[in-house]
Amino acid sequence: MSSPVEHSEEHRGAFSSRKVFILAAIGSAVGLGNIWRFPYVAYENGGGAFIIPYLVALLTAGLPFLLLDYGLGHRYRGSAPLAFRRAHPAAEGLGWWQVAICFVIAVYYAAVIAWAARYALFSMDKAWGDDPEGFLFGSYLQAGDPGIGLDFVSGVTVPLVLVWLVVLLIMALGVQKGIGASSMIFIPILFISFIALVVVALTLDGAAVGLDALFTPDWSALGKTSVWIAAFGQIFFSLSVGFGIMITYASYVGRRSDMTGSGLVVGFANSGFELLAGIGVFAALGFMATAAGTSVDQVATDGLGLAFIAFPAIINEAPAGALIGVLFFGSLVVAGLTSLVSVIEVVISAVRDKFEMSRIAASMAVGVPAALISIVLLGTTTGVYVLDIVDHFINRFGILLVAVVSMLALSWVFRKTALLREHLNRDGSVHVGMWWQWLIGFVAPAALTFILVNELINNIQEPYEGYPTWMLNTLGWGLAAAVIVLGFLAARMPWRSSTFMGDPEIKARENERSS
Ligand code: ALA
Repeated sequence: MSSPVEHSEEHRGAFSSRKVFILAAIGSAVGLGNIWRFPYVAYENGGGAFIIPYLVALLTAGLPFLLLDYGLGHRYRGSAPLAFRRAHPAAEGLGWWQVAICFVIAVYYAAVIAWAARYALFSMDKAWGDDPEGFLFGSYLQAGDPGIGLDFVSGVTVPLVLVWLVVLLIMALGVQKGIGASSMIFIPILFISFIALVVVALTLDGAAVGLDALFTPDWSALGKTSVWIAAFGQIFFSLSVGFGIMITYASYVGRRSDMTGSGLVVGFANSGFELLAGIGVFAALGFMATAAGTSVDQVATDGLGLAFIAFPAIINEAPAGALIGVLFFGSLVVAGLTSLVSVIEVVISAVRDKFEMSRIAASMAVGVPAALISIVLLGTTTGVYVLDIVDHFINRFGILLVAVVSMLALSWVFRKTALLREHLNRDGSVHVGMWWQWLIGFVAPAALTFILVNELINNIQEPYEGYPTWMLNTLGWGLAAAVIVLGFLAARMPWRSSTFMGDPEIKARENERSS
């Protein structure tokens, strides 16, 4: 007869191999953050000099926190709330806080994928005409003044419904047949199509001008707090840490696995892709600036503007524009889908563990409300503002905040980092030294606290993008507070699951001894 631990693991699902886990984790990390956020963040914050804060953030906080997530998920073999609860019963709320953040992110993340899918089709006949900006906000999104208008925009709702149907199908198929199998198909497609895009972009006239603009270092940027904030913010979102994703995925990996080596592969693959995206995007921007007889700073713009305004303009001018469009927007869709799957899996896995639901029931219980909220809020004329505000606040006062609190709680309140280090080292090909505990216990929390305090002051002094106060108070501050409250309320609900609540490692050893 199987032991309670083994039984619960069979029931939860698992990746068939470490290779599949690594592909799924890369699929989660490489997402919209790499393609539409990184190139501009790097350019805006010192260009070539940004590599320094970026590497500092990666090495002192991003990778150490990734290993913490891997240690937690792999040792305690549960979704974020279950893993935290098994580490210490009082820690469960931290897991639910991350679950709530994921729910919020999934709701708007899906919309960007839907826009990208629509734009891949628009690329074929350059449907945006000569004025991509007017087209985006006017004909396509039909955005009015910031406020709540619930008029559905069919160009968004139709692809959004399709995105959610694909995601629900993958979720219902389960960990290996759904998440694992789709990563094995999507990740090679993503890498091949993106490399093709970069090669085409590098052949455009003026590509070198764009690369010069991106990589010319502005060393004075290193003295600016905002540059360091941007680096840490970028690393956390991009590595998918602070969302509970890597905890959840690590819980589906075989017991005797090299988690430290896997962490480095995932971390460096993610950064490598980011660099590739920077090269591809700036080569294309260099072409556009040269064609328009202007400088790169006149054409470079951030997230939405980059993907949905600058790229259409590039596609209008470039030879093989339609090909560039399909490769660029297709890559966004694929990269976004594998990340969205991981974000929503955090919620599904938590609900399954706590309420002992079947995968299909939990996928529907989580996915259908998420899809409906997503369609109502993002599929309407309000969508673009909801997205902008929620994304800004949940990244800072959601992900970064829960990351600091988790690191401090695990280091100083529940005192689990030594145990997790030992666990990581048991089968890890890369030895994790005492330095890791120092980074998790002091360095990363100190850096993040400094950043958060600065961001708090900035956001209070200067309301974000001048949006109406009521919108910032509800979709921004309100939502960031609500995910904390909901998280801790969820932790108070009773477990309906027979899942073993103790430390599964100890239980497994006891089982080995008694058999
Ligand atoms: N890590 C994912 C991204 O970069 C969420 O978009």
